[in-house]
Amino acid sequence: MPRFPFPIPYSWYQVAEPEDLDPGGVRALKYFGRELVLWRDEAGEFHLQDAFCPHLGAHLGVGGAVEDGCIRCPFHGWTYDGTGACTNIPYSDRLNRKAHVRTYPVVVANDLVFAWYHPDEIAPLWDVPVFDEVGTPAFSDYYKSSYTIGTILQEMAENTVDPAHFRYVHGTDQVAECESYVTEGHTATMLSKQAYVTPRGVTEGRIDVYSFGPGVAKTWFTGIVDALLVATSTPIDNDSTQVRFNFTVRKFDDERTTSSVANAFVGEINKQIQEDQPIWENKTFLAVPALADTDGPIVKFRKWFSQFYAEPHEVGATTR
Ligand code: FES
Ligand SMILES: [Fe+2]
Repeated sequence: MPRFPFPIPYSWYQVAEPEDLDPGGVRALKYFGRELVLWRDEAGEFHLQDAFCPHLGAHLGVGGAVEDGCIRCPFHGWTYDGTGACTNIPYSDRLNRKAHVRTYPVVVANDLVFAWYHPDEIAPLWDVPVFDEVGTPAFSDYYKSSYTIGTILQEMAENTVDPAHFRYVHGTDQVAECESYVTEGHTATMLSKQAYVTPRGVTEGRIDVYSFGPGVAKTWFTGIVDALLVATSTPIDNDSTQVRFNFTVRKFDDERTTSSVANAFVGEINKQIQEDQPIWENKTFLAVPALADTDGPIVKFRKWFSQFYAEPHEVGATTR
């Protein structure tokens, strides 16, 4: 009996950082409940494919090599191009057209590498959002952290619409006040006011979370400083997720202030996920929760999230 009644949702997902692989590099990955190979051709393009060679099943990410824009299998030397087509069987004049490797669309955006996963291999239904501030001189380089969490994306994302937990899990005295939660197609936007207590009194700030499918969310923190968090969540399998925080702040005049502000924010984000982790890893999913009238828009969130499950599954009394 799986712990959660959900299949892996479709979305763009972060699978790497550009600096993880030089051109010509090959790496084994495990996401979407599958063994994968990420490789980078000589021109620098990334390719993500199922790992097992259709010939006799060798893992292309373990001993495979990039050669003339293709990946060569370590077992018998067959090669596959970036579309997954077999391009050479070194000891035969004939190609085997059935030998095809499943290939995932990949883009580099916001200085991160994303792949599109859909269980039925449907082409991307939206583009990866591009955040113009990333990589501009006005903003700092990313501060990055990564966590492997023993739960699914939906359970973690539900935090966004759960203001009440901040006081109890994160010890926040001033809980953000939700102004609006709007879902539209693959996007969900949660706009909140946040009061910050400073030595000079209370300052009004904002925390605005924009979700783009299950895999990518940006959070703008404004008020005392402008900070952008690009948070990505990638399913490893049916009950574990890799979460990456890519964090940038608007630079101050001096480097010291920029890095101390950024480090304070990063420290807080990392503290929060570590506080959430034991809750997430030990809770159960309740299809019919007993909510308070002042809880956040949890039902609306779940309805929005459910669109990303393409495979049939049963959630409590409802069957999709
Ligand atoms: S298993 Fe890959 S070439 Fe034989
Ligand atoms: Fe939380």
